[in-house]
Amino acid sequence: PIEDRISLLMKEMTLEEKVGQMNQYNGSWDVTGPKPESGSNEEKYNNIKKGWVGSMLTVRGVKEVRAVQKIAVEETRLGIPLIFGFDVIHGYKTLSPIPLAEAASWDLEAIKNSARVAALEASASGLNWTFAPNVDISNDARWGRVMEGAGEDPYLGSKIATARVKGFQGESFSNTSIVACAKHFAAYGFVEAGREYNSVDMSNSKLYNTVLPPFKATVDAGIRTFMNSFNTLNGIPATGSVFLQRDILKGAWGFKGFVVSDWASIAEMITHGYAADAADAAKKAAIAGSDMDMESNVYVTELVQLVKKGSVKESVIDDAVRRILRVKFELGLFDDPYKYCDEAREKANIGSKANNDDVLDMAKKSIVLLKNDKNLLPLKKSGAKIALIGALANDKNSPLGSWRIAADDNTAVSVLEGMQQYKNSALVYEKGTDVALNKQLFVDEVKINTTDFSGFEAAKKAAKEAEVVVMVLGEIGFQSGEGRSRTELDLPGNQQQLLEEVYKVNPNIVLVLNNGRPLALPWAAEHIPAIVEAWQLGTQSGNAIAQVLYGDYNPSGKLPMSFPRNVGQCPIYYNLYNTGRPTDKDKNVFWSHYSDVEKTPLYPFGYGLSYTSFIYKNLKIAKPSFQKGEKIKVSVEVTNTGNFDGKEVVQLYINDPAASIVRPVKELKGFELIELKKGETKTVQFTLTDSALGFYDNDGKFLVEPGLFNVMVGWNSNDGLTTKFELK
Ligand code: IFM
Repeated sequence: PIEDRISLLMKEMTLEEKVGQMNQYNGSWDVTGPKPESGSNEEKYNNIKKGWVGSMLTVRGVKEVRAVQKIAVEETRLGIPLIFGFDVIHGYKTLSPIPLAEAASWDLEAIKNSARVAALEASASGLNWTFAPNVDISNDARWGRVMEGAGEDPYLGSKIATARVKGFQGESFSNTSIVACAKHFAAYGFVEAGREYNSVDMSNSKLYNTVLPPFKATVDAGIRTFMNSFNTLNGIPATGSVFLQRDILKGAWGFKGFVVSDWASIAEMITHGYAADAADAAKKAAIAGSDMDMESNVYVTELVQLVKKGSVKESVIDDAVRRILRVKFELGLFDDPYKYCDEAREKANIGSKANNDDVLDMAKKSIVLLKNDKNLLPLKKSGAKIALIGALANDKNSPLGSWRIAADDNTAVSVLEGMQQYKNSALVYEKGTDVALNKQLFVDEVKINTTDFSGFEAAKKAAKEAEVVVMVLGEIGFQSGEGRSRTELDLPGNQQQLLEEVYKVNPNIVLVLNNGRPLALPWAAEHIPAIVEAWQLGTQSGNAIAQVLYGDYNPSGKLPMSFPRNVGQCPIYYNLYNTGRPTDKDKNVFWSHYSDVEKTPLYPFGYGLSYTSFIYKNLKIAKPSFQKGEKIKVSVEVTNTGNFDGKEVVQLYINDPAASIVRPVKELKGFELIELKKGETKTVQFTLTDSALGFYDNDGKFLVEPGLFNVMVGWNSNDGLTTKFELK
């Protein structure tokens, strides 16, 4: 048994070697070149040789992984293999849509498969651990990392988190599995004002009901690693939080895997004002249950002394090391440390046709149709003169998003290339304007070009001569992601002006949005007849968009995050509390609203159209009242009443109108993705159990309280049929 093998090995290990397992380095030198002779790279290299390193990150490629693994296995005293981690966030080299886009598909099988494709490619490249899925719930589009999560809802987020873990890890550990890592534990998605790395203050009830469910779902799905978080939570850095890591994760949830810190987050506890120096930071993080130090370099320098002085118990180290070794044993690295190092597989799998087909499928499923007045879409396949406008239409880089370290630049199919394949329509392309000047990951500020209007005239001329104008506008790939908080949610640069100028000469516009977060586009929502949310869709982006525009694929995506009317509404989300004055029933100013704009979102959570139409009828609930513990069956009939076959996400929400802690006005508790032929009707069944009706109080206790419950089954979080029942 693995536990016995771990015990035997640990008996052989010195304290230094144990602490070494808790140390993770970034491979910041040419690992297949000459050995580094100076600075931190030399120190890293020497520490690997001494057996003082447990894991490497960013070393990738069979040759590279083999070279570093060889040092650990063949040159150290005990030959303990390294585990190789990397940010495989939405694909490795062949990229699928950014995770927020994938969430818009509500298609759990497709999302699982997308993670599987990522795992196939990453594992073929020597890797065995991904720092994904990001399961951070967030309702603030200003925060750049919303692109990496599944949006604002804990129920949808939990289902997607489960799908991703299963996709990455596979059904059982094989050489195509990569260990998944739930991050960022916890509450990173609620950084104040959406500003990156900022602090978080929230009630425990909100933490338990909104933030933690997707993390818990990953533990239930068998995830083996967690990453903690840069933020403080109620004054304590998550990295140093005993409450999060010991009490909840390893205590209440019984998690047996290990926790890695975020990059330098242990040392950053000093800057936060929580630790006095490196030794204090190492001590606090280890005691709190951070098992592995990513690039703070404080465990390897401080922990041995801390144990010798009696400041950290050796049992703390033993627990961390056992957890880390357990994962290595489960992966089979002790039996074959090179099991992920197969050049032939690397060559055959990475970028394969099958992988490209799969990411194309995922990309189509991720597109959300936001508006389609007068059925402007789908476009005619022949005879139509089309003007395609916008720098993003001819951009082969932006669709790759900002987490695409292993992908080659400019490898996405652009919208222009995708549309050019429909040879029967006359297509004219004009850039109009640029989106941004600096287009690199490490450039702090993406400089916006607001002064260059020189392309406007050509764009307007093309638009004037066309029957339909397709404008691809939005953010470049590096305008969202880590370190990319924004205070405006508009179209960057002078794209809004371009849109309005083109509209003056030809209002028949299909606006295709490319963006990594919800944008606030009230003018477009009012004036532009057709709007397609196409996010950053990865390698096959342009093909997916073209197939949707020309009607070869009927879109069925639904928004996983509310789209605000303006940035001042943020944070905005559907599952809010009612307040004491939610409506203007007294027809005066003293109710919960804004004076200058409606308080509702521009497009609500769960919203998305199709080329066909659906009607819902006969919402039924088995009986008017139920006993606790009984299964509550709800059903509804959905009919495809339009002219296309199509898919629909049927959504079930509940509301508990009187509880010992106020509950949200609506909470998603079920959804079904159904496929209906033209004219077809299906009955969709939902079953609610106590786990859907209850909630956590501020002590983390789960309560199921009797009383009335309202139910809505609908086509978005705002619209649907309603009924109610009583829980005795
Ligand atoms: O995995 C990431 C994390 O999400 C943000 N900081 C760096 C880590 C490793 O690249």
